[in-house]
Amino acid sequence: MQGTAIAQPNIALIKYWGKRDVARNLPAVGSISITLRELFTRMHVEFDHSLPADALQVNGAADDKMLPRIVDCLDRVVGADRPCARIASTCNFPIAAGLASSASAFAAVTVAAARAAGRVLDVDTLATLAGRASGSAARSLFGGFVELQNLEDDIRCRTIARADDWPLSVVVAITEKGPKAVGSTEAMEISRQTSPFYSSWVEQQAHDLETARTAIAARDFEQLAAIAEHNCLKMHSIMWAARPPMVYWNAATMRCLQTVRQLQGQGIGVFFTIDAGPQVKAVCLPEHVDDVEAALRATAGVTGIMTTGLGGGARLEDSS
Ligand code: PMV
Repeated sequence: MQGTAIAQPNIALIKYWGKRDVARNLPAVGSISITLRELFTRMHVEFDHSLPADALQVNGAADDKMLPRIVDCLDRVVGADRPCARIASTCNFPIAAGLASSASAFAAVTVAAARAAGRVLDVDTLATLAGRASGSAARSLFGGFVELQNLEDDIRCRTIARADDWPLSVVVAITEKGPKAVGSTEAMEISRQTSPFYSSWVEQQAHDLETARTAIAARDFEQLAAIAEHNCLKMHSIMWAARPPMVYWNAATMRCLQTVRQLQGQGIGVFFTIDAGPQVKAVCLPEHVDDVEAALRATAGVTGIMTTGLGGGARLEDSS
């Protein structure tokens, strides 16, 4: 009764921000993301009738903070009458720091738990279950460019272009390693309830999705860059205008944006996106990755760089 799965985080180019149903964790808007290749979470799940309680280890240390969300996820995948589980997670990048660690974690644990329980579920069901735990996790079941569509009563994810159809690179500039001050669920609810920009954000999302879809189909980097930066800045401006205001950026985040603008001025194909944290993700054409890496590394306040291509969806490990 065990299973091991691996999943990569994804980064939204057209963002999910806001929920239409908090209890079922259904997003208020559709989104488009890219699944990364080199960053990963591996989850091992083992059900054991002799265990007195569920136990989670993250990178070798007991983690009681994340445990309740993992327990809920196992209950949804397997049923609340399941045996207790030993869950071991390894992750090769900072956790809860705006790098989509919850996306890869919940995608991986959903796939591993289904295997451990002997349940054969199709990818849409796995994505729906992962999405109940973390909205962005549904997208990590799929590889390449992924669209999450908001259906009337549910979600559906689809790969709209494969990783090797348009092999972009992503340079992540780390500006701070600590966990974020406000979790995304709470920040989304504060945004919905108090931000004067929230309703126009929801209204305009169909247009942004369509523009990005067209850009991806045409491999039009400039068009994708323009709409992704616009959508990212809109998401953050909702939060800046909320009460209380929420600003995930620090001074180095801002300096990274200036670096990206300078690179663009030199004709380098790059654009930025930022999630619920201070890290800057620079998406670029593969031929420009060395220039982008060097410029961000030289930006004051950047403490680390991670570079990755695009990858595939969550999957079982061979031995599982
Ligand atoms: O899946 P959550 O609840 O961690 O929310 C993710 C929200 C953003 O990363 C900011 C945007 C997105 O679409 O991934």
